[in-house]
Amino acid sequence: MTDKFYYPSDEVVTQASIKDYDSLYQRSICDREGFWAEQANELGWYQPWTQVLDDSKPPFYKWFVGAKCNIVHNAIDRHLKSATRNKLAIIWESERGAVRTFSYHALNREVCQFANVLKSMGVRKGDIVTLYMPQIPELVFAMLACAKIGAAHSVVYGGFSTEALAARIEDANSRVLVTADGGFRRGKPTDLKTIANEAMQRSPTIEVCICVRNNGMDVVMESERDFWYHDLQALPIASPKCDTEMMDSEDMLFILYTSGTTGKPKGLIHTHGGYSVYTSTTHRMAFDIKPDDRWWCAADPGWITGHSYMVYGPLINAATLVMYEGAPNYPYPNRWWQMVEKYGVNILYTSPTAIRGLMRYGDRWPSRHDLTSLRLLGSVGEPINPEAWRWFYEVIGGSRCPIIDTWWQTETGGFMICPLPITPLKPGSATKPFFGNEVGVVDDAGNEVPVGEEGKLVIKNPWPGMARTIFKDDARYAELYWGDYQSKGYYKAGDSAKIDSDGYIWVIGRMDEVLKVSGYRLGTAEIESALVSHRAVSEAAAIGLPHEVKGNGIHTYVILTTGLVGDKALESELKEHVAHELGRIATPETVHFVDSLPKTRSGKIMRRVLRARALGLPEGDLSTLEE
Ligand code: WT7
Repeated sequence: MTDKFYYPSDEVVTQASIKDYDSLYQRSICDREGFWAEQANELGWYQPWTQVLDDSKPPFYKWFVGAKCNIVHNAIDRHLKSATRNKLAIIWESERGAVRTFSYHALNREVCQFANVLKSMGVRKGDIVTLYMPQIPELVFAMLACAKIGAAHSVVYGGFSTEALAARIEDANSRVLVTADGGFRRGKPTDLKTIANEAMQRSPTIEVCICVRNNGMDVVMESERDFWYHDLQALPIASPKCDTEMMDSEDMLFILYTSGTTGKPKGLIHTHGGYSVYTSTTHRMAFDIKPDDRWWCAADPGWITGHSYMVYGPLINAATLVMYEGAPNYPYPNRWWQMVEKYGVNILYTSPTAIRGLMRYGDRWPSRHDLTSLRLLGSVGEPINPEAWRWFYEVIGGSRCPIIDTWWQTETGGFMICPLPITPLKPGSATKPFFGNEVGVVDDAGNEVPVGEEGKLVIKNPWPGMARTIFKDDARYAELYWGDYQSKGYYKAGDSAKIDSDGYIWVIGRMDEVLKVSGYRLGTAEIESALVSHRAVSEAAAIGLPHEVKGNGIHTYVILTTGLVGDKALESELKEHVAHELGRIATPETVHFVDSLPKTRSGKIMRRVLRARALGLPEGDLSTLEE
């Protein structure tokens, strides 16, 4: 914790739409429903709500009850009625330099066409369509096309592999899968269709697979099940006119899976009404969006960041989105800075791991480029270490651009703790709660811990962007997030944090068996079950240890099946196996062959003991350790 403040410049303050955080914050807390109703009135509704918040059955809160809407009505349809129609909605560039742009008008045509294709494939309101795609405009079209016709999308990150994809398809019981032949990464084609084929074999619910031709590689298409996207878009059925389905405010918009403590990923549900209000308000206020802003969220749409702040929030706010497919450092480490200069990006929103990765190459790469178009910077995914913060602030932002460090989660739908451009900053702190939210750091009984002490991060109130439940598992949702502080009605984030004497919130990290690897959330249990699915492994444990760029690296300990001996070849085979099952991001840094694992008497692996041993730290209380 540092006490040095970075104050906003006069220029930032002059430009800022909100100049007084405290008074608006007070108002938003004193009359939470009034505040959110006011924000909701910025959007278009087919029919207004009768009740802002229904809190009669906590923790199952409902927002804008009785209202009729569709997020696409606000993200596209409304813009077609004004000159915004001709504004660029998307500027997309690939690693190889291909460029595609779409105005709001063009975006609408693409979305309508694909919506009609989905309808012709029998997709109906309430169905869940799985999208497994690279970061290409068609992914955005497919998300919006689903929403438009009232189907929910379940986007599976393109870096995930067979097992992860199959499990998600199966849980969602998806009939339709949209994918692509593959993408590009570091000049090489990556393969998605082969993985999709394997996953469809493991989870046979898919009847229709629509495949985008993107990298041109040879792929296996199964007749009657698999169709090329461009073939379908060329059919008369793919008309560029399609009505937007009228939805209830609380109808499901999407399901997004995220890792938890058990091996089974949780499918979090977000809705049309509350999520529209929350993502657009947080985006507009925290990043002080101006009508002509070029906004670049350098996250993958496969994660909640991409859903809320690459696609939905920015489109509702009629921003121009910059999208980039590829590695930040390919072919050279100036790839991103070139993009900022070329497109005159005003706001760059990225992660500490990306910043650390680019910082390694030194100042000479960004210094060759004119980055003066930048007005604000943003960070998300994990606590940003002060060195990375300062580099981002000084070298990329020219000491002019406030860093909007946003704390939130898949579950929260949007920013919960973040500064405004006018907020004095402390590197590494996401600063203060967003409007409408009361944040606490508490002990097990739910009482505030003293200033400066570590405790559990809680949100003390419902908010419109909150996940409504875990798909098919209300009980788990209630228990996991709301069970610990039921009588107080607090939401438990699963993070530990501190609040300093200035009221600044410092998030320390996850308290459960969830790792943040390059900002991505992975459960140790998922990695362990991937290892155990290999015939050579009988037991496995995974832990995270500090990593210079990734934040955490994955280290694993395995007990081999009797009779087998570990060697270098098996070590690489197991790393490959995890990458194949879960995806490249889950590849372990190390595989240690061991004879036993530290366990409690009830048989639970004591990962903290493994971690302490690996770091050479005291092992702590070992009273529950089995002999
Ligand atoms: C977890 C949620 C939110 C979109 C991307 C991640 C960590 C996220 C910050 C931040 C410190 C952060 C927390 C949180 N986290 N942002 N600004 N400062 N920690 O979403 O995959 O659901 O992960 O990411 O540990 O619980 P997610």
